[in-house]
Order: sequence, then structure tokens, then C-alpha cells
Amino acid sequence: MVSTVRPGAGEGDAGLRSAIVAEILVTRALPEDLIAPLHEVGDVEVWAGDEPMPRHRILEAVTGVRGLLCMLTDRIDAVLLDAAPRLEVVSQMAVGVDNIDVAGCRRRSIRVGHTPGVLTETVADTAFALLGAVVRRLPEGERAVREGSWGPWSPFWMTGGDLHGMTLGIVGMGRVGAAVARRATGFGMEILYTSRTSTGPGRRVELDELLGTADAVMLCVSLTDETRGLVGRRELSLMRSDAYLVNVARGEVVDTDALVDALARGEIAGAGLDVTDPEPLTPDHPLLGFPNCLVTPHIASASVPTRRAMAGLAVRNLVAGLRGEEMPAELSRG
Ligand code: DGY
Repeated sequence: MVSTVRPGAGEGDAGLRSAIVAEILVTRALPEDLIAPLHEVGDVEVWAGDEPMPRHRILEAVTGVRGLLCMLTDRIDAVLLDAAPRLEVVSQMAVGVDNIDVAGCRRRSIRVGHTPGVLTETVADTAFALLGAVVRRLPEGERAVREGSWGPWSPFWMTGGDLHGMTLGIVGMGRVGAAVARRATGFGMEILYTSRTSTGPGRRVELDELLGTADAVMLCVSLTDETRGLVGRRELSLMRSDAYLVNVARGEVVDTDALVDALARGEIAGAGLDVTDPEPLTPDHPLLGFPNCLVTPHIASASVPTRRAMAGLAVRNLVAGLRGEEMPAELSRG
């Protein structure tokens, strides 16, 4: 059985609905054909609101669930895990799991699945699109056309940097970093990278050397305790004033206030950000006041085939986990 849970009138006020008692909770509406396999392993409740399922509704709903298919906007912390004594599997429709208390899940023998691999190439495409757009000043040029400030061709109007042949500094040589590096090779770029574990094309260097040398710095790391705030005032000050910063990782990898100051003082040439801290940004956020700062709304993986692949993998993880089988993409239970 599948039922959908819709926000009640006045959603946000407490106690408008009775508790939900399904065994599987999906916290965001997904295409029915993709979630169909869930029906084989239990009753399914799907949150049908346009906004993320409110925290209090999730806490209410998880009391009886064995399987939770969640999004990166849901906080899966100790409070939630304590409210879900029957929970066996958390399956996230994202590769990043920084919103999940993974250690807490392990302590409670709750298995955790995520969606690596299926979004790699799409995220790398977007990373390159952001890099190209900000280096070649495409949003500024487009705005000028719309605003009527496009005059006769002019020798140095709207000139920016070059993509081809640049030195690209990739922070994090995981799946996405490697996919970015493949694209960079095609553009004749020289590659510098940092990584604790993986090797890639180009030269592996320390972060400070990468920051001080690269024409563009591309952040491709997972958000962990070690990478939170990795790029702060000191790191931005090491970057060259004609260098660009691109972030397709998580907003919290960068100190937002420090980035605002660096842009305001012209300490870097520009930024392309698919992720920010906080998310979403309000339209009056200082980052949006810089013509050389391009912000997209966390859409790096948002191609239709990739989002379908992510949802499908999250469903397969949940089904396998609830059956006690090997999950296609389970975080190590280490
Ligand atoms: C992820 O999977 O972690 C991405 O940020 C979603 O686009």
C-alpha cells in the first residue's frame, strides 16, 4: 500500500494530524515508477508537499518505520534516530551524507545507503559549466544584453580569462574530482590536486601550493569535520587576485563571510558556487551583489536522467537493506 501525506492546512502548527504508521517513509515525492519496488517490502508513506517534509512531521512519522528514504535537506540526527526504534535502513538520495549521524546509525545497527557514482559525470559537467561561465563572464554579458547596455563591439569590453591552458587546482580527487580532471585534460589544462587517499592525473600538491598557484580552484571534497571551513580567510588570501573559486562540494567547505570579504576587496577574480552556506540564499545576500559571483541553486546533479538514477539507486538500496541483502551502495559499516 502506498499513501501520500500532504501538508495540513496551517502546516507548521502542532498536532494537526495523527501519527503516521507506515513501515517505509519517503520524505519527498518521487516518480511512482521509481518507488514501485518499495511496495514489495512494506507499506509506504510518501510526503507529497512541495517543500521538504517538516522536521516535526518526520519525527512523528518515524516512530514505526523500518526504512527511511531521505533527502540531504533532512537532518538524521540522534533525536530522530531515538524517535525511530524500529529503524533498520536509512537510504539517502544523495552521495553526500553530512546531514546524517552515520556514527549514531552504526551504534544502532542501522544501515546507511547513498548514491555515489550515478551523479559523478553530471556534477562534473556542471562544475565545468560554472567554471566556464564565470571565467568567460557569461552571466555578466547576458545581463548586459538584457539591460540594454550592449553597445557596438569593443576591444576590451567584457574580457575575462581563458579556460584552455589554465592551471586548474582540484581540491579532492574522488569520483567528481577525477571526472573534472578528465574534462580539464581535454581543455589542455595543467592539473594540480590535493587528496588524502586517491591519485589522479596532474601533480599532487599541498593545499597551500595549490591555492597559491592555480588559475582556478575547484572544490570537490565531501563535507566532513576536516573539510568544514577548509577555505577561510587565510586560504582565500593565498589565492591569486586573478584566480577563480568554484564550489560544487558543500557550502560549509567555504567560510562565506571570508568569501564575501575576498570578493569585496578584489582578492580573487570571481566565484562560481553551486552550493552555499546557508542554503538557500535569500535574494539580498551579499554574495549576490557581486557581478563576478555566479550562484546556482545546488543543481549540479540536476539532469533528469541523473536525478532518476539517484532516486532509483536510493530505492534499490532501501529494498536490499530491508531484505537483509547486500545494498548496491552502502556506507561501510566499519
Ligand atoms: C549529493 O548527492 O550529495 C549532491 O549534493 C546532490 O546533488
